[in-house]
Amino acid sequence: MKTRITELFGIQHPIIQGGMHHVGLAELAAAVSNAGGLGLITGLTQRTPELLAREIARCRAMTDKPFGVNLTFLPSVNPPDYPGYVQAIIDGGVKIVETAGNNPQKWMPALKNAGIKVIHKCTSVRHALKAEAIGCDAISVDGFECGGHPGEDDVPNFILLPRAAQALKIPFVASGGMADGRSLVAALALGAEGINMGTRFIATQEAPVHDNVKQAIVAASELDTRLVMRPLRNTERVLTNVAVERLLAKERELGAAITFEDILPEVAGVYPRIMQQGDMQAGAWSCGMVAGLIDDVPTVEQLITRIMDQAQALISARLASMLHPA
Ligand SMILES: Cc1cc2nc3c(=O)[nH]c(=O)nc-3n(C[C@H](O)[C@H](O)[C@H](O)COP(=O)(O)O)c2cc1C
Repeated sequence: MKTRITELFGIQHPIIQGGMHHVGLAELAAAVSNAGGLGLITGLTQRTPELLAREIARCRAMTDKPFGVNLTFLPSVNPPDYPGYVQAIIDGGVKIVETAGNNPQKWMPALKNAGIKVIHKCTSVRHALKAEAIGCDAISVDGFECGGHPGEDDVPNFILLPRAAQALKIPFVASGGMADGRSLVAALALGAEGINMGTRFIATQEAPVHDNVKQAIVAASELDTRLVMRPLRNTERVLTNVAVERLLAKERELGAAITFEDILPEVAGVYPRIMQQGDMQAGAWSCGMVAGLIDDVPTVEQLITRIMDQAQALISARLASMLHPA
């Protein structure tokens, strides 16, 4: 399939694996890129720029296809060494960066001078327009359904994607709730030029996480995610568990007075315990409503082939037969 996204990134299929903390390691990024999509290493999961440089080298040894790095800009009192991470990306010869969190304006000159294509992930049309204005090459439009941080506007993709299509000149992919060929065809119909998936890629053979995480996604329905940290204006969609329900009880009890310190036990240092140790009650971890559409753990290659085959059948058989009934 050829879209502005496949052309921009030099990939075979318009399918991107979004940055995922403690999931987006070289193994997954390389598997996605080898299957013809675009795999992304999650920059901040590597504790230092030196470790990111090593992860980039590891990924390069596993694939000769294009891959990228996610750089998430978090509001933080002690920010990570962003200049160091940007330099590691440039020195590592990576040509695609997914930015998220804050607007990447400060880093655009360095990234653009190094010939890097920037896809900015955001959850509103106004942020997408800002990214376009500062020179981003593409947008990942992340709807309210998404796993992780959906922002505070709560606009689902059935509205957000056509709004983005009306407003943007640069190409965009649909992110949040994407699982299969139906998602891809719907996203294309709504104006996107591809899809970005997070949760669906965790439940694959190559995702370097504990099997308990994959089985939790397979077992979950579309009713099993919760929105946490809304009172802190840092809303995150997570899979429910004992710790998440305790966190929500604190939010109800403390109301507007709640602070980040109050919920530290449910959010701090949780990712390694969930993703590596498989301790599924350890705390809040991002997961999309799309878990309700996931019921197996294929290889990345099987998943991507299945998505493309299903999309092709939908377009050329189901939809075409409606236009041209026998
Ligand atoms: C476990 C997990 C961790 C994530 N970590 C990050 C992250 O560190 N940075 C980021 O930009 N997005 C992160 N995301 C969001 C994904 O990149 C993607 O935008 C989102 O999962 C899309 O929604 P979906 O899960 O419905 O496919 C994370 C998502 C999940 C499920």
